[in-house]
Amino acid sequence: MSKHIDQCPLDAEPEFNRFIDAAVSRRRFLQGAGAASTVAFFAANPVAKAVAGSLSKSELLGFKAIPTSTADTVTVPEGYKAEVLVSWGDPIFANAPTFSQQNDASAQAQQFGDNNDGMTFFPLANDRALLAVNNEYINDEFLFTHGGKNISADDARKSQAAHGVSLVELKKVDGRWTVNPQGRLNRRITAYTEMAMTGPAAGHSLLKTAADPSGKKILGTFNNCANGETPWGTYLTCEENFNGYFASEKTVTLGKTYQRYGISDTDWGYDWYKHDERFDVAKHPNEPHRFGWVVEIDPMDPNSTPKKRSALGRFKHENAALTVNDDGHVVVYMGDDERGEHLYKFVSAGKYDPSKGSANRDLLENGTLYVAKFTGSDDELKGQGEWLELTFGKNGLTPENGFPDQASVLIFAREAATQVGATTMDRPEWVAVHADNKHVFCTLTNNKYRGVKDSQPLNAANPRTKNPYGHIIRWAPTQGDHTQPTFEWDIFVMAGHPEKQSGLMAGTDNINKDNMFNSPDGIGFDRAGRLWIQTDGDYSNEGDFAGMGNNQMLCADTQTGEIRRFLTGPTSCEITGLTFTPDSRTMFVGVQHPGAHFPAGGDAIPRSSVIMITKDDGGVIGT
Ligand code: FEO
Ligand code: CA
Ligand code: CA
Repeated sequence: MSKHIDQCPLDAEPEFNRFIDAAVSRRRFLQGAGAASTVAFFAANPVAKAVAGSLSKSELLGFKAIPTSTADTVTVPEGYKAEVLVSWGDPIFANAPTFSQQNDASAQAQQFGDNNDGMTFFPLANDRALLAVNNEYINDEFLFTHGGKNISADDARKSQAAHGVSLVELKKVDGRWTVNPQGRLNRRITAYTEMAMTGPAAGHSLLKTAADPSGKKILGTFNNCANGETPWGTYLTCEENFNGYFASEKTVTLGKTYQRYGISDTDWGYDWYKHDERFDVAKHPNEPHRFGWVVEIDPMDPNSTPKKRSALGRFKHENAALTVNDDGHVVVYMGDDERGEHLYKFVSAGKYDPSKGSANRDLLENGTLYVAKFTGSDDELKGQGEWLELTFGKNGLTPENGFPDQASVLIFAREAATQVGATTMDRPEWVAVHADNKHVFCTLTNNKYRGVKDSQPLNAANPRTKNPYGHIIRWAPTQGDHTQPTFEWDIFVMAGHPEKQSGLMAGTDNINKDNMFNSPDGIGFDRAGRLWIQTDGDYSNEGDFAGMGNNQMLCADTQTGEIRRFLTGPTSCEITGLTFTPDSRTMFVGVQHPGAHFPAGGDAIPRSSVIMITKDDGGVIGT
């Protein structure tokens, strides 16, 4: 799996650059901003709306903010251009069929998958790159000419082929990135690609099925939400709502461990179980245990077997925000996107050593998983936190409590989290580590059950009843050490509606009528430390959401707190997925599940697409 990396130093270079840049940025953060910024980090108490005007103007944000939009198009600021790079169904191999709604399963397997989400740009040379893109799910109403009624065997296979990951080579033509269908690295990973289970749960009896008595050979990945990447050049794809694909013709009563993950005898309409027996949960009750993992893919070897990393736990993974701690331990922060679920941290057993090349490549195989507990007083929007260890034999994770071994702790990570006393959160979506490597941010998108269900009472970190607008929490590990068991946290922004609401519902003081949004979801930092915020929320533009328009992307300066709207998406879409070229002069952004006619317009059916953003003067995006 590591052969190609060893032979081709270019493959490894971009990630080294990233870490060098992070170090430079960290120095700038510490020197330039100095003590004042450290104070500002926790002192900028956002509750007090009265301090309007206390925000200093950002030097990081150079573009002119744009207004909201309800148009069926992508809008970016003056001086910027947004173009479609690739859409669902575009051919990504030399002889692949062109897009048609009539395309069958074999055509789809050679085309870009549906509903693109998290993605990473891997540079290969100045004019060549590989874009790894998650394809989260499908929309029956557009994937099939019949709109999804009476799914045939080929339809089910087409649906499976539209899921997974698309690895697409890009080349620069006349200064512009384009898809290269001839690319040697082009690959589709689907819901039936063979994968290996690794780590403490590999081979466990709970993972064994009739088709795989080893409990180590799993077919496929699906509902690939967001992503991550490693300094050793691999791509991480995260399995989110995997429960929605399991069902049965029979009425079956499944136990608590199934209920906690939402697995029942009814699926979300995919109908795979009718044509692919492993999705029949009555017949193959262990199959659902084989999904809900983080999967590591070597994008440089199209023949490599993707590896599911059981040490990172099984839940509805959003993304995997990886950082290398100062001491070399690899730390991965991960959200579990469901109402009242939790926020996790993995710390590798081994240490990353850039001089060791391929010896680093299995660092995600073994380590320690933790889950977050937040404390603080309800009205301060800040407090302390603790990472609770999810290790067999500790913190009540014992056979008496239903955990006979470490594999059970990982397979039923949600129940283990409850056992140790983790804080219920408002749907943790993406996590992003600041370029200073000392501050971490997580979107809590919204939660209609907060303060409503007895199991999800208000707490200091999730203080708003029903939380209709969402917030972004951030924390600083003690002494800047990501392996420490404690941290300090505050709320960077609470989205809201300052025009129509008061108190907490108005939002924090960095929200105003010009930058209102709801339901933050995708986030990521660029090299200079700008925080990009993407939304997946209520786009009705009415009532509590009046004036917010379509889903969008904003950009924040996390030192001054200023937030500006950078992009608005087409009708009914969500904006999700972001990555940059190493020079930050091209940004790739995902438009997922547009609902009208984007991008072709006219009467065309809508197609999820990756958008490429450049600046007319060739400058860095955001300046
Ligand atoms: Fe796939 Fe939680 O978004
Ligand atoms: Ca998301
Ligand atoms: Ca979302």
